Amino acid sequence: MPHRLDLPAGFRWGASTAAYQIEGAVDEDGRGPSVWDTFAARPGAVRDGHTGAVACDHYHRYPEDIALMKGLGLDGYRFSVAWPRIRPTGEGAVNPAGLDFYDRLVDALLAVGITPLPTLFHWDLPQTLEDAGGWLNRDTAYRFAEYTAIVADRLGDRVPAWITLNEPFVHMVYGYALGIHAPGRALMLDALPVAHHQLLAHGLAAAALRERGLDVLIANNLTPVWPASSADADLAAAEAYDALHNRLFTDPLLLGRYPDLSAYGVGPDLGGSVHDGDLKLITATPLDGLGVNYYNPTRIAAPTEPGLPFAEAPIEGVPRTTFDWPVVPDGLRELLTGLRDRYGAALPPVTITENGCSTTEELDDTFRIDYLAGHLDALAAALAQGVDVRGYYTWSLLDNYEWAEGYHQRFGLVHVDFATQKRTPRASYAWYRDLIAAHRARQAG
Ligand code: FCB
Repeated sequence: MPHRLDLPAGFRWGASTAAYQIEGAVDEDGRGPSVWDTFAARPGAVRDGHTGAVACDHYHRYPEDIALMKGLGLDGYRFSVAWPRIRPTGEGAVNPAGLDFYDRLVDALLAVGITPLPTLFHWDLPQTLEDAGGWLNRDTAYRFAEYTAIVADRLGDRVPAWITLNEPFVHMVYGYALGIHAPGRALMLDALPVAHHQLLAHGLAAAALRERGLDVLIANNLTPVWPASSADADLAAAEAYDALHNRLFTDPLLLGRYPDLSAYGVGPDLGGSVHDGDLKLITATPLDGLGVNYYNPTRIAAPTEPGLPFAEAPIEGVPRTTFDWPVVPDGLRELLTGLRDRYGAALPPVTITENGCSTTEELDDTFRIDYLAGHLDALAAALAQGVDVRGYYTWSLLDNYEWAEGYHQRFGLVHVDFATQKRTPRASYAWYRDLIAAHRARQAG
């Protein structure tokens, strides 16, 4: 029996991936090096020294992967465009072969009735731009807008909606504050200009997309923040964490201002990076949709040592993924209703742009099926409580290169044998396919 869900007509079903995690072919057809090539080559940076040099070899095997998507009956496919394929040094000459690849991909998707939903930046910055300061350098925002215009000019006749950035919070914290991801810088709070420059990049790119008549989204990683207790100190810590993780990347877009970061000793100019007029630029092109990536809630307590104004506390008594992430499906409902309550009429329609879990290699992945079923029930509950959610893109279509964890975390509906590149659909693939088909049948009937 397929899982039954009451979702509106026109609700869109999808799956998500990202360029560096699946494409491979890092030296082919004129692609320039990205920060992830550099970081993955650094001894000790990634578990077992894994790199994305081959990944799922999707660059060559995309027809097979699109056939898998067609088998699922997807409405949409979220992938990312590798900036270093389009402009190998991030500025200067355009690489036609890079554009050709995404042109072929888009046509192949459309040929089977799947709408492409590209993300323009999913963390693989051209290395040359990183050498000039990366996202600490304001100029990167302008380079991003140029690159956006180049890609949109080529694909905008067939691709109606675009995601500018993926998870600017995670990129800032993991990439620039803690050094767990590329570019591997550990600047702690000095990383904050990275937040502003990414949002500025979003604003500039959004204007370029809108000028071409295209819809604009951003994909934010959001988390319900749970205070560890009702003690004042824990409540204050939770509020500080919420400002950093959630509000920093959503308030400027929806309310035109930065949240209060005084708990961090940071003023509204984010370390001097905010120039006059920037917030206007960031909001000038209203979002057509907010992409929400949800994995788990975060429990926060008062700090026990000096430094940050919060400490993370464990969430106990729930299942955990192989990544050790707690599984709390209702957190998705809580998050969505919380966004509606916080932003009211300023909240655009929401699309879940990522949600999924890593499991063991097993093909009979009942863990993943339970995970997806629980989260989709939570999504349906949020809809019933009045939140406008338009679609759900699961992470991920394929097992892939999971950043600092290399090939150790398997998020795919489809198992990938990385030695042979053989794809084998898991039980969750059939489950998702049947769920989508049942939903469509109800709409039609
Ligand atoms: C998100 C990333 C995505 C993937 C999932 C598991 O933070 O956007 O690329 O790694 O986590």
